[in-house]
Amino acid sequence: MRKTGVTMSRNEQSAVTVIGLGQMGTRLAQAFLAAGYTVTVWNRSAAKADALVAQGATRAATIEAAVAAGPLVVVCLPDYATVHGVLGPVAASLRGRTLVNLTSGTPLEATEAADWSAGHDAEYLDGAAMSGTRLVGRPEALFVFSGSRPAFDTYTAELKSLGNSVHLGADPALAPVYDTALFGLAWGALAGFYHSLALVGAAGVDPTEFASVATAHMPFVTSLMTEHARQARDGVYPDDDGTVEVHAAAMAHLAHTSAAQNIGVAVPALFRSLLEQTAANGHGASGIASVIETITKGAHNV
Ligand SMILES: NC(=O)c1ccc[n+]([C@@H]2O[C@H](COP(=O)([O-])OP(=O)(O)OC[C@H]3O[C@@H](n4cnc5c(N)ncnc54)[C@H](OP(=O)(O)O)[C@@H]3O)[C@@H](O)[C@H]2O)c1
Repeated sequence: MRKTGVTMSRNEQSAVTVIGLGQMGTRLAQAFLAAGYTVTVWNRSAAKADALVAQGATRAATIEAAVAAGPLVVVCLPDYATVHGVLGPVAASLRGRTLVNLTSGTPLEATEAADWSAGHDAEYLDGAAMSGTRLVGRPEALFVFSGSRPAFDTYTAELKSLGNSVHLGADPALAPVYDTALFGLAWGALAGFYHSLALVGAAGVDPTEFASVATAHMPFVTSLMTEHARQARDGVYPDDDGTVEVHAAAMAHLAHTSAAQNIGVAVPALFRSLLEQTAANGHGASGIASVIETITKGAHNV
């Protein structure tokens, strides 16, 4: 049996290489150091490793040396083209190692990177850092991974030192799928929050005071997400949380109140239009989650 990253000894496994020391790569390396791993780093501009070396990391003189330093190679570069540009010339050195790619990309790029790694006898995990840089190393920082399950199991401790690291499945494309979906969720929620801030701001409310009440409202919203996901899975939309028509009327009220305050209405107008379309599609008396059907149908027309 070939010696892969997932069959190396525990001692060898305590070494982690981080390639790419931008804002994210630097935080990844710091988290591995804080968890007690032997960390080797490489960056195109060598000086970016100075602070990490002062914190205990080893600077690899070459990309070959960086890859050779341990069984677990974590790469975090701007895009997949750069990953291939950096690792392509040393692909043979990846043999028997596990490559964890925390570069943002598309599902197709992840699939191609996994195939490319397999072609060089390396295990592959695609990943996405979901919680920015500030939380890295803390349990609330969400990291999603997909690809080789044996590699994830072998390096769970290392990956958990980054935060709440979750394996989504064997298909390497899943991590970028979740990455974009979760960003869509965050941006949608933030769009609603920014609109709320403008609305309460027009009434003279301090934004930070509003935020403390708004965050207390979030458990209600997350409880709806859990219930509505079940409804979407079953394609059945009971009206327990209000019908589409009731919510459309509430959104109209929000839009009118906003217009009366002379603030923008683009955010409520978007959801109001989705609700009205959903009612026009025959779901007026269905639960609000039936909006998912309108969005899903619209996707076919893009
Ligand atoms: N920052 C975040 O909050 C965040 C959050 C989630 C995901 N991400 C993802 O993480 C990845 C890295 O983001 P970042 O914020 O760390 O980026 P960044 O701060 O802009 O750093 C980019 C890194 O890539 C290196 N690089 C750029 N072009 C290169 C090339 N042609 N060859 C070799 N190295 C090259 C840079 O090296 P030099 O120092 O030599 O320029 C630098 O180390 C991206 O895919 C990003 O979407 C970032």
